[in-house]
Amino acid sequence: MGGIFQTDEAEFIKQARQFQLPGQTIAVVKNNAYNYGLEFAVKAFAISGIRAFATTSMDDAVKIRQMCGDSADIILMNPTTDFKRARMFNLHITLPSSGYYDTYKHELQGLNIHIEYAGLFNRSGLTDINELEYILKDMKASGIELNFTGLWTHFGYSDEFDGIYEKESGMWLEFAREVRKLGLTPEMIHAQNSASYVRDGIFDGHTHVRLGIGLYGSKPYAELDDKDFIQSSTLSAPIIQFRQLTEGMTLGYGAAFKADKDCTVAVVDIGYGDGVLRARAGYECEIGGKVYPIVALMMSHMVVLVDDDVRADMPVYLYNSKLRIDKYTKLGVGANSEQLGALNYQSLGREIIYDV
Ligand SMILES: Cc1ncc(COP(=O)(O)O)c(C=O)c1O
Repeated sequence: MGGIFQTDEAEFIKQARQFQLPGQTIAVVKNNAYNYGLEFAVKAFAISGIRAFATTSMDDAVKIRQMCGDSADIILMNPTTDFKRARMFNLHITLPSSGYYDTYKHELQGLNIHIEYAGLFNRSGLTDINELEYILKDMKASGIELNFTGLWTHFGYSDEFDGIYEKESGMWLEFAREVRKLGLTPEMIHAQNSASYVRDGIFDGHTHVRLGIGLYGSKPYAELDDKDFIQSSTLSAPIIQFRQLTEGMTLGYGAAFKADKDCTVAVVDIGYGDGVLRARAGYECEIGGKVYPIVALMMSHMVVLVDDDVRADMPVYLYNSKLRIDKYTKLGVGANSEQLGALNYQSLGREIIYDV
């Protein structure tokens, strides 16, 4: 058996409870719920009290509806042309541009539509209020009625502290004001990701915050307290064998490791093929409560410089409550979601610890 991503359900739910804004939280469950597992996470979030979910995948949106029943609000953040399923499963869908409106205005009638504002992040969404005015004018001229149930944007700078987030959020708040001036009153107004929510609380006039990483227990930026973000998962792998190296011996592709003195290394059953980022292997792992340097990373294996305290039956931890994902984010390994998203759901074993 190779690497194992293990999650403690009770800890996961505890974190979701302590981070959410009760009754006003949309849980972002895209990319297999940040790789915690879609079904596991949706169920646990529902237990924690969350009733609204956002994803980028139509298939996942349908699964969430099937799991949660009629009462959940499910938002598809990517534009879709699968209007049949959007209708059948009563999803909230996104209006990303006037071009999309022009092409699909007839099919969009009767659906729950969330107007997206592009803002500084600018991945998708209306560029400015003129684009919305154009749509409203055309609706009138063409006798089209659309059900605008939501208004949203995404912040790309909410973990930055050089003034750009203030500009970004200011642009959005101005756009939302202009939308209201046009007479639209969407039931759901949501913009804030974890970092924005931690910094500002919920903005006036907003009905929801749309949270990902904080709900999953990683800090959205470094200057926050560990105890407010419970990391409920560990990533570990077993030792396959030990090798004794004498001074000067090399190991791995291109002599990835060269022993500068006689030493023992442990070969561990996990590699970059399982989603361990190469940059992560530049730091330590933990065995039996002690940290040891990783000296080589291969597709299916990792090599660790060990000492006599390490036994063959000890799991090697890459992430646990001390080796926090957000610690390695701070060290520059990659964003929290990058470290999680890279994990190979096919090759890693999955274990959930249930509180019985
Ligand atoms: C559109 C959108 N909203 C919300 C989130 C949640 O962000 P975070 O995980 O920083 O809370 C994401 C994450 O990437 C996103 O893409």
